[in-house]
Amino acid sequence: MKLPASWRASAAAVIATVTLLSSGSTAGAAPGSPALAAAPDIPVANVKAHLSQLQSIASANGGNRGHGRTGYRASLDYVKAKLDAAGYTTAVQQFTASGRTGYNLIADWPGGDPNKVVMAGSHLDGISSGPGINDNGSGSSAVLETALAVARSGYQPTKHLRFAWWGAEELGLLGSRAYVNGLSSANRAKISGYLNFDMIGSPNPGYFVYDDDPAIEKTFKDYYAGLGVATEIETEGDGRSDHAPFKSAGVPVGGLFTGASRTKTAAQAAKWGGTAGQSFDRCYHSSCDTASNINDTALDRNSDAVAYAVWTLSQ
Ligand code: TRP
Ligand code: CA
Ligand code: ZN
Repeated sequence: MKLPASWRASAAAVIATVTLLSSGSTAGAAPGSPALAAAPDIPVANVKAHLSQLQSIASANGGNRGHGRTGYRASLDYVKAKLDAAGYTTAVQQFTASGRTGYNLIADWPGGDPNKVVMAGSHLDGISSGPGINDNGSGSSAVLETALAVARSGYQPTKHLRFAWWGAEELGLLGSRAYVNGLSSANRAKISGYLNFDMIGSPNPGYFVYDDDPAIEKTFKDYYAGLGVATEIETEGDGRSDHAPFKSAGVPVGGLFTGASRTKTAAQAAKWGGTAGQSFDRCYHSSCDTASNINDTALDRNSDAVAYAVWTLSQ
């Protein structure tokens, strides 16, 4: 995915300013308006490589990555090893659900204001009857690659960055709820926003933005306006993913979604392409949610949108 022309035009100026800042000078910055670091273009090939690894993990573990199964723990170990190698501080949070141990993975990028935390997360578990690649290898891989892009670029935002991969979403948002319940009210208040990515590469995609915190919603809409791609408000079950426990606790939330079992209308097919009268994801919660159940363009756009929002909301 290429950056919009407006971003490419400003990239050189931004790099020059960053160089000045890192050499200890603020000369050249307009008073009161520090230059912003531009978000990187996330290589969709890297995101797809993570999806391929998650598919292999499912195949080697009975065909799934479900809560309490070996394929879940192997998925978590894969993501954690990448983050540890990149310099993240990682923590595994354990909880029990349906008599089995579940795990959340939390990764903190060192630095930034600890009282202003920007979080991005996705559920890493799948259902027990399939590999769970669009649901939700897609969000998990885009968030992972964004975290790795932070490390590659040496990005040091003013706010603190935290990434999360939730367990047991498919049993009722259990991992994210355990995390939010485990936060003191003081620590909850430090989270300035939580961004959720659950199903962002649907094979017959729509481009849906959560209608929650206005500033987060605007950030995603701005990104899509830059691409010239229309968006709609997400309505296929508000509260059906891991942003819900955060929202209930008063944390500003937002996110992206490309659709599950609902049918794409003719009007939606006219503006987005794809097939009218067919589900956004015909393999939703099925054994056919494999590495081929992904629309690469949707995955690319949304991976870049994850990075755009993480960069924009953290400085
Ligand atoms: N969270 C659901 C799942 O994992 C999928 C889903 C349905 C969804 N409606 C949503 C995700 C709305 C985000 C937003 O099965
Ligand atoms: Ca990209
Ligand atoms: Zn699901």
